Amino acid sequence: MIKAVVPADKLYGTITPPPDKSISQRAAIFALLHDGVSVIKNYSPAQDPQSALQCVELLGADVSRIDDVISIKGNGRNGVHPISDELDCGNSGTAMRLLSGVIVGAGQSVKLLGDPSLSSRTMKRIIEPLESMGAHILARNRVYAPLFVTREDPLIPIEFELPIPSAQLKSCILLAGLFGEKPTTVIEKIPSRDHTERLLGLNVEEKGGKRLISASLDDEIPNQSYTIPSDFSAAAFWLVAGSIVPDSEIRLPGTGLNPTRNALLGILKKMGADITVENERMEGAEPVGDVIVRSSELRPIRLDEKLIPNCIDELPILAVAMAFASGTSTISGAEELRHKETDRIMAIAKMLDAVGANYEEMEDGLVIRGNPDFSFRSANFESFHDHRIAMASAVLSLKGEASSEIEDAECAAVSYPGFWDDLQKLRP
Ligand code: S3P
Repeated sequence: MIKAVVPADKLYGTITPPPDKSISQRAAIFALLHDGVSVIKNYSPAQDPQSALQCVELLGADVSRIDDVISIKGNGRNGVHPISDELDCGNSGTAMRLLSGVIVGAGQSVKLLGDPSLSSRTMKRIIEPLESMGAHILARNRVYAPLFVTREDPLIPIEFELPIPSAQLKSCILLAGLFGEKPTTVIEKIPSRDHTERLLGLNVEEKGGKRLISASLDDEIPNQSYTIPSDFSAAAFWLVAGSIVPDSEIRLPGTGLNPTRNALLGILKKMGADITVENERMEGAEPVGDVIVRSSELRPIRLDEKLIPNCIDELPILAVAMAFASGTSTISGAEELRHKETDRIMAIAKMLDAVGANYEEMEDGLVIRGNPDFSFRSANFESFHDHRIAMASAVLSLKGEASSEIEDAECAAVSYPGFWDDLQKLRP
């Protein structure tokens, strides 16, 4: 589908961003491992969490759905029994990587499939440590899905220092580790999103500037009955849109504010954005709050490696904000962006090219020479079938002089099925 997006003079209103994609998928997977019923409220209708839910059902959980309330009856770690030889993870890297850990832990055999985007993302990062835990994994060219995952040998608990700051890799290893008599410990040098350790209540130690997270059979898997917060990564599009479109005010109630996820908030504030947070509270194990953004002038900023994992999914939309800042901004240490749903450094570069913005592409990031008065007439954007590129292009389109077009815009539904309707709602 080609989506036409007309410019906006002003954005105004209240949007409830969709339920968090990372937390929804974890809630479903952890509920499979819990012995008993979890009632998950506000489960995400987006494609990735729905793929994860289907896989959980095919791994033996009883799932019932009433609107956005999902009841999952898991049978505990010993009750993971695939009722199908194949699990389709769709576009979801989180589902494929976390479920591989579960299958290895449970000592089951399954083939994990993905769509063309997921089948072109490297799985080497999980294959090597899982094989050191006793798994046997067949992969296309030894790296790509489909993955045939099995474990016949005894599970070997490991101590594993993450070679890259990845929450999917960390969670994969910890999930396999949950099935071991002795603890498996994952060591993080740069913290990545911590939903897994929070929602499972795992033991976390801080030592010499590193985080050590452990999991074993001794960890009881808690029931996952809570309300999923709104997705900060979805709210991010409105935080930038509300900042760069003049005379705007957007309210985002109940937005997830996990500190390992919301670095964009601090980054935008440092850039001069007018963002306030009210009514901060806890929703289960996760912090949430009502976020309000109003338009403002933005200053440039330099981001380095340390902050990247805490804003990794927000970098495409942050690049849009940078294009309107009063000077040169830099994103560096973000090579990992090349391994997302598409090569996002290339895709951001193409998005900026489409409007004639002044930027330079680097191997591990971008230099963006912003200008608050930057203008373009209209543009044709490719989404590269990547939800976050499609939505970032839509926000950029709001600043054109005439209507722009986004190709394959339906991919927004991977994380945010209501995005296009919400965009309409914000126009006065
Ligand atoms: C996710 C972790 C991040 C993020 C992805 C979701 C998760 O990937 O980009 O969209 O749910 O654990 P990393 O594995 O690079 O942290």
